Amino acid sequence: MTKAVKGKVLVVDDQKSIREILEIFLKSEGFSVSAADNGMTALDIMKNDIFDLVITDMKMPKLNGIDLLRNIKEIAPNTVVVIITAFGTPESAVEAMKLGAFDYIQKPFKMDDIRLVIKNAFEKKRLQTDLSILKEQLGTASFENMIGQSPAMLELFSMITKYASSGANVLITGESGTGKELIAKAVYNLSPRKTGRFVTLNCAAIPEGLLESELFGYMKGAFSGAVSNKEGLFELADEGTIFLDEIAEMPVALQAKLLRVIEDGTFRRVGSTSDVKVDVRIISATNKNLLALISEGRFREDLYFRLNVLSLKIPPLRERREDIPLLVDNFIKKYAGGKKQISQDAIEVLMNYMWKGNVRELENIIERALLLHDSEVIDSQHLPEEIRTASPAGEHVAIPSGGINFEGIIEDMEKAYLKEALEKAHGIKTDAAKLLSLSFRSFRHRLKKYGIDK
Ligand SMILES: Nc1ncnc2c1ncn2[C@@H]1O[C@H](COP(=O)(O)OP(=O)(O)OP(=O)(O)O)[C@@H](O)[C@H]1O
Ligand SMILES: [Mg+2]
Repeated sequence: MTKAVKGKVLVVDDQKSIREILEIFLKSEGFSVSAADNGMTALDIMKNDIFDLVITDMKMPKLNGIDLLRNIKEIAPNTVVVIITAFGTPESAVEAMKLGAFDYIQKPFKMDDIRLVIKNAFEKKRLQTDLSILKEQLGTASFENMIGQSPAMLELFSMITKYASSGANVLITGESGTGKELIAKAVYNLSPRKTGRFVTLNCAAIPEGLLESELFGYMKGAFSGAVSNKEGLFELADEGTIFLDEIAEMPVALQAKLLRVIEDGTFRRVGSTSDVKVDVRIISATNKNLLALISEGRFREDLYFRLNVLSLKIPPLRERREDIPLLVDNFIKKYAGGKKQISQDAIEVLMNYMWKGNVRELENIIERALLLHDSEVIDSQHLPEEIRTASPAGEHVAIPSGGINFEGIIEDMEKAYLKEALEKAHGIKTDAAKLLSLSFRSFRHRLKKYGIDK
């Protein structure tokens, strides 16, 4: 079986035996290896090839390790350099580190030392690459399918990059429509777990009774309908990442099982008597205040701490209004291929609005305006009335000229919100429920109660 090449390494040493030992070892670890017997030869080889890592001896004829290091910093600054020093020459190691060597290994060395140094070196290299990708992406104000250049979003992007490389669980919080799902995907995409799967479960979209078998799988005969064994999402996500959306909707009984998977990596399929072991990173998201749910006894505190090792808070759109023009631009490109424009007047209206449904609501408004109006330029008159007439604070309500019938007003308001949400979500109930921060179950219940559900 041939192994995938992990990276390119150049070994430089005038002692043939050391070159050979390192070459054999590195090849067995899956690296592609070249070798040189002094600094001059190494530089020659580096003229035609790009290496991830150079491991070099210090004392060599023609060009020594320190001079080689200086040259590499100039011609290939992204190549990581590790120095091999003879025992008892600490000053040369220090000098090398000052000149930008990543680490040093002392002779005589053990293979385990080499393994560790190389692992760290490649980790550093990956972070360096991530950072340069990040910089490039930020130049165009887009990062992993997310648009934004407000200070808050830039900070979020850099946190995502940092958090991605750690394997720890991440909790994403933010109002509905702020982009929690996009962020979960970005964390996965930039993580070493990208070679594994990204599996998603929306805890609010699945009936309570089915959640456990969905997450952990089941054995044939575990319940009526279990006609064969089935793997759950945790098994599918082994060595990858699971995204638990709307985590606040997870029933307390199931929270205990989730806690167990986090604590010892094991769970049982429904109807099984043996444990399954997995290695899964959990990213969860909610627009609810979990601390409040904890104090009401609806969410386990111990689980909260296990899920919230790293936390990402997404600011609502109204707190980063400077992102609105960019987002609008992006949505026009997405829905009209960039063939249409938007007037300054319309942009101002959009920037003044409260956006309770955040980016999702903005996206829907732009999509609808493009769909309903043929004109080349979207103007403020093409925007829905409630957006044009909303006061910047968004707190005021217009009082009808005939006065208000207070009887039944609460019901009427509730109905109005339900209908409005349905309209905004183009009749898609799960989306409408999200706009109102209601669970799907509770949204559906209300529709039935008011006879809106047909
Ligand atoms: N920064 C952004 N740039 C571009 N599109 C975005 C951005 N943030 C959100 N969106 C878009 O807005 C919509 C809502 O995003 P997403 O589904 O990730 O929100 P959410 O926070 O998960 O919402 P909910 O809590 O309702 O599930 C999606 O269509 C997404 O592509
Ligand atoms: Mg979501």
